[in-house]
Amino acid sequence: MEINQKSRRVVFLLSPFQGHINPMLQLATILHSRGFSITLVHPQFKSPNPSNHPEFTFIPISDNLSESKVSTGDLFSIVSALNKNCEAPFKQCIEQLLKADDHHDRISCIVYDGLMFFAQSVADHFKLPGISVRTSPAATILAYALHEQGYISLLDLMSQDQVPEIESLRLKELTAVMRENTTEAILELRAAFTDSLKKSSVIIVNTMNFLEQEAVKIVQEMFPASSIFTTGPFHKLAPTISSSLLKEDTNCISWLNRQSPKSVIYVSFGSLASIDEKELLEMAWGLADSEQPFLWVIRPGMVRDSKGMELLPKSFEERVGERGCIVEWAPQKEVLEHEAVGGFWTHCGWNSILESICEGVPMLCRPFFGDQNLNVRYVCDVWKVGLELERGEIEKAIRKLMVDTEGEEIGKRAKHLKQKVDMSLKEGGSSYSSLNDLAEKILSF
Ligand code: UDX
Repeated sequence: MEINQKSRRVVFLLSPFQGHINPMLQLATILHSRGFSITLVHPQFKSPNPSNHPEFTFIPISDNLSESKVSTGDLFSIVSALNKNCEAPFKQCIEQLLKADDHHDRISCIVYDGLMFFAQSVADHFKLPGISVRTSPAATILAYALHEQGYISLLDLMSQDQVPEIESLRLKELTAVMRENTTEAILELRAAFTDSLKKSSVIIVNTMNFLEQEAVKIVQEMFPASSIFTTGPFHKLAPTISSSLLKEDTNCISWLNRQSPKSVIYVSFGSLASIDEKELLEMAWGLADSEQPFLWVIRPGMVRDSKGMELLPKSFEERVGERGCIVEWAPQKEVLEHEAVGGFWTHCGWNSILESICEGVPMLCRPFFGDQNLNVRYVCDVWKVGLELERGEIEKAIRKLMVDTEGEEIGKRAKHLKQKVDMSLKEGGSSYSSLNDLAEKILSF
């Protein structure tokens, strides 16, 4: 027992994506505040900045991505290459850490980004408990698992039309959206991901129980050997930290300070989605015509084959003047907390959605790929705190959300959802309790 009480070092394995680095570092910060020491192992590609986190030990491992000739825009090839290339270096890294392990700071478990599923076999090899972290909703776990032979019983149920509803949507419909544009290679990755979950001791999902109660229940039934913790939203449980790979332009906060309450629509498509020039111009003129103040993030690389911002015509700039503020990267959480922000035109990345509902900001949804196509259904059909954008109707949609009665109703529901978030974070609330249980679970290893 004595040794267990001293097992307080947790090794994290990160993936190199902004939308995954943020929640993983937030979770590491949460566990650190609970007394655990943290070692962060990360691929060299897009390394987080260690100087922002002097409290953690950072260890880069080789990922050989350039040798694998993977295009940096091809997500699935990157994930596949990382799972092939990082296994040996990660194993070596754990071996060295175990050798150096002192009695007072034993490694108690490996917490890995679910995308880096090879980590479970490394954990198994060293007989360490593996904790898989899902940075997207619990429903995506179901959507991935349903591709896999092992879960044929659910597929059978689906064909007999007996699948239970989750969160008032048919599981069939919710998971179907994740099946669009999938290739054999993607299905293989999803099967490997599911397999790692089966072997994990714990699955942590960055979600809240009340958001996806039924999905969480089915996940628990599917993976009876793992304990499921819904300890989200991590960013609300972690003290403020920045894990941005791009420099945040804080000038937009002074601009926001000059705007009226709830008047601004914040526009951002996260760290990966890209658009063409035509869509950029449609967005620009839609924003101009809406007559609403806007804060727009045009990330370098967001417009395919172009730097982006310089494509905007002079006539647009003259027309919007001070009414618009454009930045390359914003301090998003601060922006969404700002009283001037009344709406968020989003690509529906899960972090963006969590950050938006935590501040009671209603959404205008323009999903691109993967879980975003599932997340939009939650926002618009289940929680009803947003509208789906129809192309060619930008001006109308912005006004509907920000000015019309329909928007007012959506805003009320967003406020109500925020209250539920606040409750779940308070002592006795589901996320609060889940965090306590998680800390205890890790201590029990
Ligand atoms: C990716 C996937 O696209 C997404 O669908 C999945 O759920 C998580 O991984 P990404 O596209 O980057 O993530 O979107 P999102 O999940 O919203 O994460 C973006 C993060 O970057 C958020 O934490 C957001 O606060 C931050 N951000 C975004 C900024 O700090 N500044 C910005 O200007 C834009």
